[in-house]
Amino acid sequence: MLKKLFRKKNIDSKSDEKLNRCLTSFDLTLLGIGCIIGTGIFVLTGIAAANQAGPAVILSFLASGFACAFAALSYAELSSSVGGCGSAYGYTYVAFGEFIAWIVGWILLMEYGMSIAAVANGWSGYFNNALIAMGIGLPDALVKPPSLGGIINLPASIIILMIMILLIIGIKESAKFNKIMVAVKVSAILIFIAFAMFNVNPENWSPFMPYGWFETLPSGKTVGVLAGASIVFFAYVGFDAVSTAAEEAINPQRDLPKGIINSLLFCTVIYIIVAALLTGVVPYQELNVSSPVAFALAKIGFPWASALVSTGVIAGLATVMLVLYYALTRIIFAMSRDGLLPTSLSSVNQKTQTPIKTILICGIFISIVAGFTSLGTLAEIVNIGTLSAFVIVCLGVIFLRKKSSSDNNTFRNKWHPVVPVLGIISCSLLMLFLPVQTWIRFLFWILIGIGMYFVYSYRNSKLN
Ligand code: ALA
Repeated sequence: MLKKLFRKKNIDSKSDEKLNRCLTSFDLTLLGIGCIIGTGIFVLTGIAAANQAGPAVILSFLASGFACAFAALSYAELSSSVGGCGSAYGYTYVAFGEFIAWIVGWILLMEYGMSIAAVANGWSGYFNNALIAMGIGLPDALVKPPSLGGIINLPASIIILMIMILLIIGIKESAKFNKIMVAVKVSAILIFIAFAMFNVNPENWSPFMPYGWFETLPSGKTVGVLAGASIVFFAYVGFDAVSTAAEEAINPQRDLPKGIINSLLFCTVIYIIVAALLTGVVPYQELNVSSPVAFALAKIGFPWASALVSTGVIAGLATVMLVLYYALTRIIFAMSRDGLLPTSLSSVNQKTQTPIKTILICGIFISIVAGFTSLGTLAEIVNIGTLSAFVIVCLGVIFLRKKSSSDNNTFRNKWHPVVPVLGIISCSLLMLFLPVQTWIRFLFWILIGIGMYFVYSYRNSKLN
C-alpha cells in the first residue's frame, strides 16, 4: 500500500488520484482498533492509576472516552463530507485556509512523531520484561531515560530504527496483516481478562479515588481523576487515523463514520474492563511499572500467561508504530505536496518507491527522542497536540455547516451544534488538566511552527 500510494502521488500530484477502493466498514473498524490499542492501555493505565487516579482510573477512561466520542462524531462528519487523506490537516485547509491548516499540520507532525516515540517506550518495557524472563534483562541504565535515572532507553531507540528500515524497503501494510495483528492484541487483552476476572480482590478498589478529582501539587505535577483522564487520553489516540483511509474506502461517506465510531466504542468498553480488573487484582500503588498487565498476571500466579500476553503486546505495539509512522509520512507528503514543506520531502526513491528522505529524517529524530524522553512526558505532549487538533476539527464542523448545503449521502450528526460544542468544551478541559510544563513545550512548538510558516511555507506554498 505504501509503495502504491507514493508511486501514484509521485506520477502526477495534480491528477485526481484514485487509490484502490477496497476497505469495507469492518476493515476500517479494524484499522482503527489496530491503531488505537497500544501503549495507552498496556502501560499508561498502570502509571495513571499509581500516580494520578488510583482505581478511579476507570472514571478517567470514561471521561476521556466521552471527549473522544464528540470528537469522533465530528471527524466522522468531516471525513464523510470533506474527505481526502490529509485528516485534520485537510479539513482545516477547507474550513479555515492555509495558515490554520499549516498550524494543524505542524501539530499533527508533533502528535504522530511523539506518539511513535511513546509507543516505542511502552514496547521497550514489555521487551525488557521478556528478556528478564529469559534471564538476560537489560540494566535500568539502558532502559530508562536520564529523567528517570537511566542513561538511555536503548530498546525504544533501536525499535524505531528497525521500523524505519522496514518502511524504507517498502514493507506492505495490508488490511489482512492488520487483521492478524488486531487479533493478536485483542487475544492478549482477552487472556488478561480471563485470568484477572477470577482473581479480583475488591479491597484493592478502596480507597477508590485517593487523589480526588483534580489537584496541582507544589511540584507542578497534577493528580486526580481528571489529570488521569488527560494522560490516559493517549490510549484513544489513533481513531482519527481511520479518516486518512478516505481514499481507500469502498463507500467512504457511509463507512468512515462507522469505522471511526465503532472502533472507538469497542476500545472504550475494553479499556474500562481492563482498568477495572488491573486495579482490582493488584493494589494501585504497585502499578507504576513498565509492563503493568504482564506484572499483574505474574503477581497473581500466572507467569506463563504473563509471558503469553507480553509476546502479544510486543508484536502488537510494533504494528502500532508502523501504522503511526506510515501516517506521519503521509501527512508530511500531503504538506509538502501543497508546498508548505520542502518538495524534496515528497520525492520518492526510484528503486524502493518509498520517500526515503522523509522516512530517514523522521526515524533518526524520533529514535533520539524515544531514547531520552520518558513515556509520561511523551504522552502528555501527544495528548495536548491531539486535543488541540480535535478542538479545531469540532470548530471546523460548525464553520462548514454554515457554509455548505446538506447532501443526503454524507454523514451528519443529528445533534448539531451540541456535538461539536461539547467536543470543544471537553477537549479543551482535558488540555487544561495537563501540567504547565506540557503547555510550555506545546506553545514553544507552535511558535517554531509560526516562524517556519513565515520564513518558508508562506513563500513556497502552491497556493501562493
Ligand atoms: N492509542 C495508541 C496507544 O495507546 C497510540 O499506543
